Amino acid sequence: MMIKLTIDDKAVDVAEDTTLLEAAKSLKIKIPTLCYNTYLKPYGGCRICLVEITTAQMGGHSRLVSSCTYPAEEGLKVFTATDRVKQGRIFVLELLLARCPESADLKALAEELGISYDETMDEVGNYLIHDAPKPEATKCILCGLCVRVCAEVTKRNALSLAYRGANRKVTTPFNKISETCIGCGSCAYLCPTNTITVEEAD
Ligand code: FES
Repeated sequence: MMIKLTIDDKAVDVAEDTTLLEAAKSLKIKIPTLCYNTYLKPYGGCRICLVEITTAQMGGHSRLVSSCTYPAEEGLKVFTATDRVKQGRIFVLELLLARCPESADLKALAEELGISYDETMDEVGNYLIHDAPKPEATKCILCGLCVRVCAEVTKRNALSLAYRGANRKVTTPFNKISETCIGCGSCAYLCPTNTITVEEAD
C-alpha cells in the first residue's frame, strides 16, 4: 500500500516503512544527517535530521522528529526548513560542537547551517555547558556508525559504545585490542568525523 504525504507542500507517494528522510530524498529535498547510512538500521542518534510534522488530527500543533527514524504516515505534512527546524538543528549542532570543537566536518556543517563559529568554540561551549569542565578533546560525535557497521555488516562486534554521560565513548571490549576485529576498515570508512584511522599492526 502506498502512503500519501506532503513534504514542504510537495505531494509524494511512498511505500510503507519509508522514512521521512527517504521520502524527502525522493523529492530531492536535502536534510542534513550524521548518523544515517543507507545500509544500516536507522539509529536516531545525532538528531541533526530534525523535521517538523503535523496532521489534521493535531489541531494546529506540530512537533519535531528525527526524519531518519520516523516512518511516513498517510496525510502527514512535513516541513524541513521552518524556523523551528533550523533552531532545533542549530541547538543539536551546538551540543556536538561543544563536545567536538576540533571536528572539521562539524565546522563545515555549522557553516552550512549558518552558525557563527569562533575558533575556540568557547562561546558556544560555555553557553551550553556553563562552567562545567571541558570533556577530553575528541572528534567522536557518538553517532555509532562504526559500532553498527561492525555489528550489522561485518558481524564482528569488535566495537561498542561504553560508559555514560560525558565519559561515553566508542571502544573495544575491556579497552584491549579486539580479538574479533579483522581489520576491514569499515569503521574508519564510515566515520563522519575521521576519528577512526587504520594502522598496520607491528
Ligand atoms: S541522521 Fe537522523 S538522527 Fe542522526
